[in-house]
Amino acid sequence: DYQLPLAGRTVTISAGGTREPLDPVRFLGNRSSGKQGVALAVAARNAGATVRLLAAHMDVAPPAGVEVVRVETALQLREAALDAAADSHVVIMSAAVADFRPADVSDTKIKKRDDTADPVITLLRNPDILQELVEQRNAAASASGQLIVGFAAETGDSEGDVLEYAEAKLQRKGCDLLVVNHVGTDKVFGQDSNSVVILSRSGSEPQEASGTKTEVAETIITRISFELNRVSP
Ligand code: C5P
Repeated sequence: DYQLPLAGRTVTISAGGTREPLDPVRFLGNRSSGKQGVALAVAARNAGATVRLLAAHMDVAPPAGVEVVRVETALQLREAALDAAADSHVVIMSAAVADFRPADVSDTKIKKRDDTADPVITLLRNPDILQELVEQRNAAASASGQLIVGFAAETGDSEGDVLEYAEAKLQRKGCDLLVVNHVGTDKVFGQDSNSVVILSRSGSEPQEASGTKTEVAETIITRISFELNRVSP
């Protein structure tokens, strides 16, 4: 009997970049385009999964055939992710989540005035959603088979440095797989191609994947299917 590899599975994927408001018209944002996350959603859908896309700001449209939840800030994404993860077999955090948010959000547009000193923005740390997802999974015995995948964009002088930082991040965050990007100035963000290394907490050899974001997504989804069917066929 032929079956798609993710048939009967629910996959939650976060994509794009969060925006942290300063006032009604301004925000702190980042360069994430959402392309890799959307490509993952397409690949998971094509593999037969029920897909929930938690879409922060994206330069691309969400694909057909997936459930879309729009979010703006890291705190909104956190709520949506913890909620969606509760009954997901797989959670992929490919969104670029702001590490900090402005402490005060003005109800009205912040005005410039000649008499005022240079303004200072105080930032608060945002919660680490990926880490909380791992804690939530570990606290729920029934969700023990859930696979949690993180992304890491690392800079470093060499490929070796990057893998070393990423390995430490994988252990610290406790996710099952970590997809590592070596980022330079004009690499990755907004581009149509990508080159990644997939690290696994179970200690298997690092797996390289490069090509278009579609090809990279297919490799990641194939790897996820393999891991999932190995744990609970
Ligand atoms: O620590 P770093 O930001 O490099 O970790 C990246 C991974 O953690 C990504 O999977 C990202 O979606 C996730 N993340 C998160 N919550 C944050 C920051 C990052 O879930 N506040």
